[in-house]
Amino acid sequence: GGVITYDPGYKNTGACESAITFLDGEKGILRYRGYAIEELAEKADFLEVAYLLIFGELPSREQLEKFHKDIREQSIVAEDMKKILDGFPSSAHPMGVLSSLTNALIAFNPSSVNVDSEEDMYRAIVKIMAKFPVLTAWAYRKRAGLPLDYGDDSLGYVENFLKMMFKKPHGEYAQNKIVVDALDKLLILHADHEQNCSTSTVRIVGSSHAGLFASLSAGINALWGPLHGGANQAVIEMLEAIKADDGDTKKYMAKAKDKEDPFRLMGFGHRVYKNFDPRAKIIKKAADSLLDDLGVEDTVLDIAKGLEKEALEDKYFVDRKLYPNVDFYSGIIYRAMGIPVEMFTPMFALGRLPGWIAQWREMRLRKEPIGRPRQIYIGETLRAFKDIDYR
Ligand code: CMC
Repeated sequence: GGVITYDPGYKNTGACESAITFLDGEKGILRYRGYAIEELAEKADFLEVAYLLIFGELPSREQLEKFHKDIREQSIVAEDMKKILDGFPSSAHPMGVLSSLTNALIAFNPSSVNVDSEEDMYRAIVKIMAKFPVLTAWAYRKRAGLPLDYGDDSLGYVENFLKMMFKKPHGEYAQNKIVVDALDKLLILHADHEQNCSTSTVRIVGSSHAGLFASLSAGINALWGPLHGGANQAVIEMLEAIKADDGDTKKYMAKAKDKEDPFRLMGFGHRVYKNFDPRAKIIKKAADSLLDDLGVEDTVLDIAKGLEKEALEDKYFVDRKLYPNVDFYSGIIYRAMGIPVEMFTPMFALGRLPGWIAQWREMRLRKEPIGRPRQIYIGETLRAFKDIDYR
């Protein structure tokens, strides 16, 4: 073999060639398939962006119609899946529930596993795009003690998701356009981010030709961690703790800078963005206007703004180029929508789903080899076996 390069965390390793997402961390640029994230967040809807990421081009009206129709036709989840969900305690974290249910879907959809042709892939993609929002809503409804139900297929993808989440057994369900638009934007901003931890996981699991759902289930677990998608939950918990501590941001700043203290300022810093996270800019504005439109007062937003200001002026954060990331403000939006804190990371998963799918499909179409990193061995050299009596 050749020389093995030591690169912990793959900070400097290009693991694949990809035509999906362009990211320039120095300049704060993010583009999906060549389109600026700012423009997509403003002008496109989530399903259009999903199509763009997965298939490479913005869909025509007919293409989008067909994609949506195919998804609608698959939006039923096998009744027996409810029994699996029922077996979880209602205190179970919805990320664990979601990765388990995504895995369980394989058993009910065995044809989704060996997908060698583009047609097979398409069918598997449409299935998971249809069923994942149902599972996400069910994970929430189970916790909330609400019956497991379906939404309304005449609605848009995101509208339908919100209805599935919040519909009560009795009474009217009133859709709020402001909330739909805000969620649509949030999901677009989360839809792909090149070779992050969960996406690399999806690609590497898929590279063994494990099926799409198995790869996604692994990705969901990778996203769960607080250093990755779990940060959105951790941010709100941190802001709540600061609020309960009389808004003492200084104390938490000091903890974050203390190298003896494992505490980090959640929602700050990014592996790639060393200038600013373009998504954070859009989200901060969206959080402001959503709270304004809904007439919600949230002191946590003020704490977040104060903390951001302090950190941006602090030498420690400036020296290390630490800026607020996408999840510093996303939780504030989810809260305003009435989504409970443990559901924040599942919301991220729902948004990231098209990105994971696009990356998995690209990896398979390019016939990439199985992912198999090497190591630098630092253990013992050869030694003689010691009989148990002599140890
Ligand atoms: N608070 C305090 N110090 C920090 C933070 C933070 N949030 N982030 C990085 N640092 C320090 C770190 O201690 C290190 O300092 P030193 O050089 O003195 O040892 C330096 O900055 C570089 O950090 P790193 O850990 O080498 O950077 P990384 O690229 O390995 O980690 C990160 C990136 C996002 C995991 C990290 O910044 C972090 O833990 N942030 C908080 C969690 C978070 O918000 N994660 C969400 C990321 S965005 C959503 C997503 O894509 O999942």
